[in-house]
Amino acid sequence: MTAKARLRTRVAASLGIAAVATLLAGALALDTRIVALGLAVLLAAAAAAAAALLYRRLAAARALHASITGAIEGIDQGFGMFDAAGRLALCNRRYREIFRRNGTDPDSRTPEIGMTVRDLVGLTIENGLNVVPAGQSTREFIKERVAGLRSARNLVWHTADGRWFALDVSPAPDGRWVALWTEITEIKRAEEERRSLAMQLHHAQKLEAMGTLAGGMAHDLNNAMVPLLALTKLAVAALPEGSRERRRLELVQRGAERAREVAAQMLAFSREEKVDTAAVDFPTVLREAMELLRTSLPATIRLETRIQPVPPIVANAGQLSQVIVNLVTNASQAIGAQMGTIDVSLELAPPPAQAGDQRSSWVRLAVADTGCGMNEATRQRIFEPFFTTKEVGQGTGLGLSVVHGIIAAHGGTIEVSSRPGDGTRFDILLPAA
Ligand SMILES: Nc1ncnc2c1ncn2[C@@H]1O[C@H](COP(=O)(O)OP(=O)(O)OP(=O)(O)O)[C@@H](O)[C@H]1O
Ligand SMILES: [Mg+2]
Repeated sequence: MTAKARLRTRVAASLGIAAVATLLAGALALDTRIVALGLAVLLAAAAAAAAALLYRRLAAARALHASITGAIEGIDQGFGMFDAAGRLALCNRRYREIFRRNGTDPDSRTPEIGMTVRDLVGLTIENGLNVVPAGQSTREFIKERVAGLRSARNLVWHTADGRWFALDVSPAPDGRWVALWTEITEIKRAEEERRSLAMQLHHAQKLEAMGTLAGGMAHDLNNAMVPLLALTKLAVAALPEGSRERRRLELVQRGAERAREVAAQMLAFSREEKVDTAAVDFPTVLREAMELLRTSLPATIRLETRIQPVPPIVANAGQLSQVIVNLVTNASQAIGAQMGTIDVSLELAPPPAQAGDQRSSWVRLAVADTGCGMNEATRQRIFEPFFTTKEVGQGTGLGLSVVHGIIAAHGGTIEVSSRPGDGTRFDILLPAA
């Protein structure tokens, strides 16, 4: 009880005692004036008691109001109360913050008491939280949003600045209603990450299954090629040099050899082929491969190389050059008959995020071209064996699946960035020895 309230109660009590005393005195003296005075004092005492009670109730109501608004102000959700006419009657700090761009921008205007839902949707556009789609007028957009907000009790809002909110609308019996905004950005982000991981896993499983299949096929193909190659060789040797039959059989032999190479590539992809590894000086391997490629590329393509000294890596030198040749060949095919540039670079790089030991040294081989690029659907499938966008006879679709197999066997990673018409860049990271 406050000092004022205590004083009022004490005054009322003293007046009451005084009234009773006066009434007794009046009754004993049989004096009607004293009795009247006593009655008057009694009335004053009752009035003082009533005033004290009223004051106490008022103070309690005020304290309750302060604690409720304090609690609403302190909650982590955006709280907005609207009157029956749909105007903002009360809101908390968090509610005002939600309307700022990124939740913090000090230059964003915030909601004010008395604003209508329409004004508030307008404010979200002004602060860049909602973007009016092309082909729709701002008026139409606002009308649609307001109707959506009115009809839904729960909805999820993805702001244009990248935040997510869940909205709960609770009506009150007197026509008022409360809107409660809960930020769910973190939950959405975790969900997104889970989905992308599941997709990556699915992709890896698919590649593995295809690798097993390709490996099995390559085995059988290899076995079938043994007698074919050996017998053709014998038959060729038995025929007179320069004869038509010998030339034809030599073509058969070359075809068979090519088929055996394809089988070997498929085996490399399925990682069934055992390869020898050693500490390899990557710059030397790269220089040699580039030498070879330079002579086979058309003059319309400029080949740029930037090679920095890097620590040796444990690898199979033959497979490394296969990776370089496959990537540069693809790049030159993507440029085609146009003028274009292929940039090949080798340098030290920080370990990729998924590397266990973040202190180890890594080496980056990057091959970037100014060719046709590719769309997202193609990009997703490039590592699949036999996936090709080239005409029949132009590509087997094995190049990148072999690259993928080799890099995975070396504990490395591959990243691709590409856009149609905007060239392609492959980044390969390999751990140093
Ligand atoms: N640098 C690049 N620019 C644009 N598209 C590319 C590039 N590299 C690869 N691709 C796309 O990826 C597909 C698969 O490439 P991959 O090397 O595996 O097979 P391919 O080149 O078609 O045939 P192969 O290499 O077996 O002769 C290509 O057909 C092409 O669509
Ligand atoms: Mg290729």
